[in-house]
Amino acid sequence: MTQSKLIKAESTLPVPDQHALIQSEKLINRIKESIHMQGGSISFDEYMKLALYEPGLGYYSAGSYKFGAEGDFVTAPELSPIFSQCLANQCEQILNDLGAGTILELGAGTGAMARDILLELEKQNSLPEQYMILEISADLKQRQQYNLKETIPHLFDRMVWLDTLPEKGITGVILANEVLDSLPVKRFKKTSTGFKEMKVGLGDNQFVWVDSYAEGELLKNIEGLENKLSILFPDNYISEINTQLVQWLNGLKKVLNKGVMIFIDYGYSAPEYYHPERMDGSLLCHYRHRVHADPFYNIGLQDITCSANFSALAEGADSIGFHVNGYTNQTYFLFGCGLEKLLANMDELGIKEQTQIAQQVRILTMPEEMGERFKVMALTTEYDNNLKGFALMDQRVRL
Ligand SMILES: C[S@@+](CC[C@H](N)C(=O)[O-])C[C@H]1O[C@@H](n2cnc3c(N)ncnc32)[C@H](O)[C@@H]1O
Repeated sequence: MTQSKLIKAESTLPVPDQHALIQSEKLINRIKESIHMQGGSISFDEYMKLALYEPGLGYYSAGSYKFGAEGDFVTAPELSPIFSQCLANQCEQILNDLGAGTILELGAGTGAMARDILLELEKQNSLPEQYMILEISADLKQRQQYNLKETIPHLFDRMVWLDTLPEKGITGVILANEVLDSLPVKRFKKTSTGFKEMKVGLGDNQFVWVDSYAEGELLKNIEGLENKLSILFPDNYISEINTQLVQWLNGLKKVLNKGVMIFIDYGYSAPEYYHPERMDGSLLCHYRHRVHADPFYNIGLQDITCSANFSALAEGADSIGFHVNGYTNQTYFLFGCGLEKLLANMDELGIKEQTQIAQQVRILTMPEEMGERFKVMALTTEYDNNLKGFALMDQRVRL
């Protein structure tokens, strides 16, 4: 997502329309039901899952616009086709090395990335056998199908939509842009008496944080962080942790017989993620291009996200047999994938288009915009070649 200024939830957010408020109310009732059934509180990852993915009601499952100027946020593929063209160059190298293969994109937004990757690969005579999209949102799937039928009808028969991971393994590339930040996380807090899990309960008919002592796997995980990073979190330190990450990766491991998985997202290595000065974690909500930190606001109408922990991704991947092939920031990755050459080809465009593209490239690559905030990690299985996206700078030592 491009950068927006952090505000207080209630300060200047536009008021949703009546239809949206009714949808939100239904989702709120659904979450309350869950809270009652579980004795008064639920873990935050369960709340996040319901708020984002409850069928027909969650933010990603229901029909709000989400992406682009009319939506809530702008992602790199929506900002500029150049982003996807660079990614296509990386796919071209992999598909060429493998002889042939499939591309599987997780969570494809409006379908913009699929369109621009396929158009670029077509130009390079390197189309994948199939381009699969795993889309858990029925609404987004419909939009993707409409957009791709309109814009690339001649390539539409290569597209396959899936609701769950394919049962049969693939050879090729798995792509996930801004998917990691949408995975549900648990929240915890350090107190003078020990670690607490920040759960979600009800107070005054509104969702509130309910703290209870962290137990079992969660406690083990948090204490493990302090040991691994040789730090002691200060009192009142709040952060997040994805306790389901390895299980999720395991599903992907079973799908990728041979090839490369590329994750692009805003995030950090563990020492940065859990830096003692990052006292409030990285949980953020996006609504109409405003960013705030209250997940109990506009429920089902706003995105809820949390930065990716790339050290955890690398460690989890390694533990189940993936090889961590490269890690770098978005700027180095895009230049490694031939951004400069793509720009040189734009010479014949008019001055207005060139200025527009220069502005898009600035947002994609400047450190204070997406360039440094966004990282790229490649996990491979049965594939040992050096990937061009990490040729300029590989920062695996920072993990
Ligand atoms: C912030 S959007 C990014 C969309 C698109 N990739 C882009 O860059 O514009 C996050 C997407 O991840 C998808 N997603 C979340 N969890 C997922 C999962 N477990 N498997 C596949 N997609 C998932 C959501 O449905 C949503 O489409």
